[in-house]
Amino acid sequence: MSIETTQEIAISQEDYELIRDYIHEKCGIYFADNKMYLVKNRLSKRMHELGIKNYRDYFYHVKYDTTQKEFAQLMNVITTNETSFFRNEPQLLSFAEEALPLTLKEKAKSGKKTIKIWSAGCSTGEEPYTLAIILLEKLREIKDWKIEIIANDISEQVLTRARTGIYSGQTLRNMKSDILLKYFIKQDEEYRVKPEVKSLINFSHMNLNDIRRSLYHNNFDYIFCRNVMIYFSEEVKKTLVRNFFDALNPKGYLYIGHAETLHNISKAFKLVYFKNALVYHKEDVNADSSKESSAGISIRRPTFLTKNEEDPAAGASRAIDLLSKIKQTQSVGTK
Ligand SMILES: C[S@@+](CC[C@H](N)C(=O)[O-])C[C@H]1O[C@@H](n2cnc3c(N)ncnc32)[C@H](O)[C@@H]1O
Repeated sequence: MSIETTQEIAISQEDYELIRDYIHEKCGIYFADNKMYLVKNRLSKRMHELGIKNYRDYFYHVKYDTTQKEFAQLMNVITTNETSFFRNEPQLLSFAEEALPLTLKEKAKSGKKTIKIWSAGCSTGEEPYTLAIILLEKLREIKDWKIEIIANDISEQVLTRARTGIYSGQTLRNMKSDILLKYFIKQDEEYRVKPEVKSLINFSHMNLNDIRRSLYHNNFDYIFCRNVMIYFSEEVKKTLVRNFFDALNPKGYLYIGHAETLHNISKAFKLVYFKNALVYHKEDVNADSSKESSAGISIRRPTFLTKNEEDPAAGASRAIDLLSKIKQTQSVGTK
């Protein structure tokens, strides 16, 4: 039996910086110097497929490809797409049990039965499908509601899998068997998402670092951008978070990965300490700002940090982050 191996192609520091800076400029993902092995490993395979023997040639091949097809391929190989259904249960519990009821109450007051959610960096679709399932479980008369879940990613490869909606193995490990039976059709060892779940989601390609495109994304009640910004440079994070703030409705919520923080990125959001998780909240500036919030956290005026600015509340924020991490390591079961 022969084992096929793809030999890695050696890269110089100069070529590494050329490619790394190009990737950063285009999509916001920043590879530090100690990630050279990762870039080399991921690009070598693609370069073998193309018969390209050095990184400088590959760089020009991507940069001057007017069809952008090679850039799309580059995004397929360079991105980290790890995800799973019901990833980080405490965050999802805080969404289902704490934030969503508040949103529903507000919607009932205004008479607007709409919920709009953005899953930014949705990978193979597990996150938006999970959110759709939660909404189907929580909203008694779903027909009365206009639900829109916008899900996008920069990798076409993962989007194709998300649209197909067929899953098996490890990604389903946090799924309760009754939920699996209710919202999936079993096909041999695989599970296909039912149309009623799929119909709530609109998958599309989007580069979060393309500010012009993201300006068309607005009026969201929730933005989930979990485990995406960890790959971005600080300056890209700052711009993106500013866009998220603008894209949210007043009283909207931003969920980032449980190990991520907006400390030194933005002071515009109010950090809400829900029972299950910490969530960033966009205050309604027209509401009475002298009051303390129901979560007991005072309201902050929108402030955005510039590139080199330090957040004076950094220490407190770090302490809260730490507490949250400790809390989230304790297992919390879903209902
Ligand atoms: C680790 S996955 C996270 C998936 C999901 N949000 C979760 O938490 O399970 C990160 C995703 O972000 C996507 N991504 C990275 N840079 C992006 C960009 N500039 N625009 C859109 N998506 C991007 C990657 O392709 C990848 O699928």
